[in-house]
Amino acid sequence: MTEILPADAAGIARAAALLRDGGLVAFGTETVYGLGADATNAEAVARVFVAKGRPRFNPLICHYPDADAAFAHVAPNDSARLLATALWPGPLTLVLPRRADCPVALLTSAGLDTLAVRVPAQDTVLALLRAVERPVAAPSANRSGRVSPTTAAHVLEELSGRIDAVLDSGACPVGVESTVLDLSGTQAVLLRPGAVTLEAIEALIGAAVHGVPALFTPTPAHKGRGGPEIRSPGMLASHYAPALPVRLHARDLHSDEALLAFGPPLHGARVAFNLSERGDLTEAAARLFSGLRWIDAEAARYGLARIAVMPVPEAGLGLAINDRLRRAAAPRRR
Ligand code: TXA
Ligand code: MG
Repeated sequence: MTEILPADAAGIARAAALLRDGGLVAFGTETVYGLGADATNAEAVARVFVAKGRPRFNPLICHYPDADAAFAHVAPNDSARLLATALWPGPLTLVLPRRADCPVALLTSAGLDTLAVRVPAQDTVLALLRAVERPVAAPSANRSGRVSPTTAAHVLEELSGRIDAVLDSGACPVGVESTVLDLSGTQAVLLRPGAVTLEAIEALIGAAVHGVPALFTPTPAHKGRGGPEIRSPGMLASHYAPALPVRLHARDLHSDEALLAFGPPLHGARVAFNLSERGDLTEAAARLFSGLRWIDAEAARYGLARIAVMPVPEAGLGLAINDRLRRAAAPRRR
């Protein structure tokens, strides 16, 4: 059952304990309610996708109690430091390169080399984040395809019985999601308009913010600068893909192939990684991105030509796993 926790010291302590134990806890922020999990625990993050019923692995935002904690896991540039000083805590999410020793699970950032970080401006969630002492991954606390919730009652309407608890801190004052700004490349790119305006960002970093064409409406300040040099949405959405070709639905194994197994493995592999020996989809999701990276490097080291992937059931989290595997197997344009 889903516990409803009050936003007092005992409620916050209980929520923190559940999160540290790998549980799922929804909590209010200044923008919308998030569905939180320990971002360093890949299985807990996999359960977030189960609870939301998401058919794909979207990268999640990591929440921190302050900028120092966030910048211990991602590498900030000057713009990131400026924006963090001026606008955090607040509804701005920054996408930055993961540090080499970043402890956040690869599933949290859907296998990307970047991580979205944010320091929310709301006392209860800040107290919770300090108590958890770990980054908390949290998408909006709605079922996939529904609108973001702004009260604990909204959260319970969709997720009651699917999550461990909701920490009820009342209605969210802002009501729209944070602005997502990608600072991982040479230009700042607006990935999602939100509570912090483009003008506020540009005034602080003294540079134009570019946008994904579908959502970018140039402000007067952009006119006459020529079209923004935009990294294509395809690139922005680009995910880790193995260097070696991938063969799906493998029911046998060729001698020049590495094996990405699910359940009892095919025999004879020189290089093999099992997503889940016991055929558990949550475990498989948790191991997918690290497994792909490991097997790609190992197979190349052994001079193998391909990665053969055993079938994964097309149900529950299997939908998201297969979505990612199909993209890994798709022919690449180079
Ligand atoms: O206000 C908010 O941001 C709320 C509260 C709970 O913090 N959270 C939220 O999360 O709206 P979600 O998962 O619904 O939206 C996260 C957005 C998505 O558009 C996702 O694609 C983008 O952030 N995102 C996350 N990590 C990213 C990354 N590494 N690169 C690019 N985009 C990323
Ligand atoms: Mg959302």
